[in-house]
Amino acid sequence: MEIKNVVVAGGGVLGSQIAFQAAYCGYNVTIWLRSEGSIGRTQPKIDGLKKTYIETIELMDTPEGKNPNVWCRGIADVETFNKAECLEKVEKAYANIKLELDMAKAVEDADVVIESMAEITDEKIDFYKKLAPLMPEKTILLTNSSTLLPSTFAKVTGRADKYMSLHFANSIWKNNITEVMMQPASDPKIFDEVIAFANGIRMIALPVLKEKNGYLLNSMLVPFLLSGMDLVANGVSDPKSVDIAWMKGTGAPKGPFLIIDTVGVQTAYNIVSQYQKVPGLLSPLLKKMMLPYNYKAMLAMLKKYIDEGKLGKMAGKGFYDYDENKNPIL
Ligand SMILES: NC(=O)c1ccc[n+]([C@@H]2O[C@H](COP(=O)([O-])OP(=O)(O)OC[C@H]3O[C@@H](n4cnc5c(N)ncnc54)[C@H](O)[C@@H]3O)[C@@H](O)[C@H]2O)c1
Repeated sequence: MEIKNVVVAGGGVLGSQIAFQAAYCGYNVTIWLRSEGSIGRTQPKIDGLKKTYIETIELMDTPEGKNPNVWCRGIADVETFNKAECLEKVEKAYANIKLELDMAKAVEDADVVIESMAEITDEKIDFYKKLAPLMPEKTILLTNSSTLLPSTFAKVTGRADKYMSLHFANSIWKNNITEVMMQPASDPKIFDEVIAFANGIRMIALPVLKEKNGYLLNSMLVPFLLSGMDLVANGVSDPKSVDIAWMKGTGAPKGPFLIIDTVGVQTAYNIVSQYQKVPGLLSPLLKKMMLPYNYKAMLAMLKKYIDEGKLGKMAGKGFYDYDENKNPIL
């Protein structure tokens, strides 16, 4: 099936980004929202994305913008980049995104519906139940959920064979990966169509053939960050030495503490708190390995930084002090 009509359910941080990116790539896009109030919150996000895309395209036209760490492959390939064409695509995307409150109308000719609503199980179930009788037979249904498994919802969608995860990363025009994950009842042919669609909106589609908490990235990242924090929280070493060990030892650009400063110390605190309660949350590997992490000491370490206002790179201070002209480590 050729996918043309895309409906995004939920116009929050990620929903608005997915909608804008799909419209930028030439798809017909409708965002379904539940209330007038949601329109008032989503429209400014769309306005903001238009501005961000234009600024990014302007930057990509400069020598600095050609740096591979700055270049946004979600917007264009470096070899074929044409600034005027990209800017025209932004204008068209902005003009063509529809916001719709009537669910039946929103999905009446949908080829794909991407659910990107708040991470609340019961509300998602409610939504899927209402949606099921309204979609035409052809519609593929996808969820952008970060932590909930698609098998939880497959039955209530009424089309388990056409249902799976399409999980994006924040700032999708730059971080253009998406993890495409089947649940046990997903049809592999539909999976192939979803991979093709993901490539069609300029994402690097990463196949996840078996259902897995944490997909690919978080399955690796969470144990990595916890292992780094555990070394420091237990007094084995200090953040800088742990980072240098990882960076010089593997050639990676960042160690665990530089990554924590980038995502924010408060977010790290929230993740550690969740793991203290549910060890296998995003990486079941941890439960199996029974790693003896000292969550209590990690939380105490992070709380000290938070209390001192050292919240990470955005705050100018975290595990490191940030100054534009200085590499915080070397
Ligand atoms: N923020 C991220 O970095 C990120 C990354 C990848 C995936 N996700 C996933 O994307 C989904 C949305 O996350 P977000 O960060 O965009 O959240 P958000 O809070 O910014 O947006 C949620 C949207 O869902 C709508 N909504 C909430 N409850 C609803 C209901 N009962 N009926 C209809 N609409 C409802 C809200 O009005 C809002 O538009 C979540 O499943 C999250 O796990 C988020």
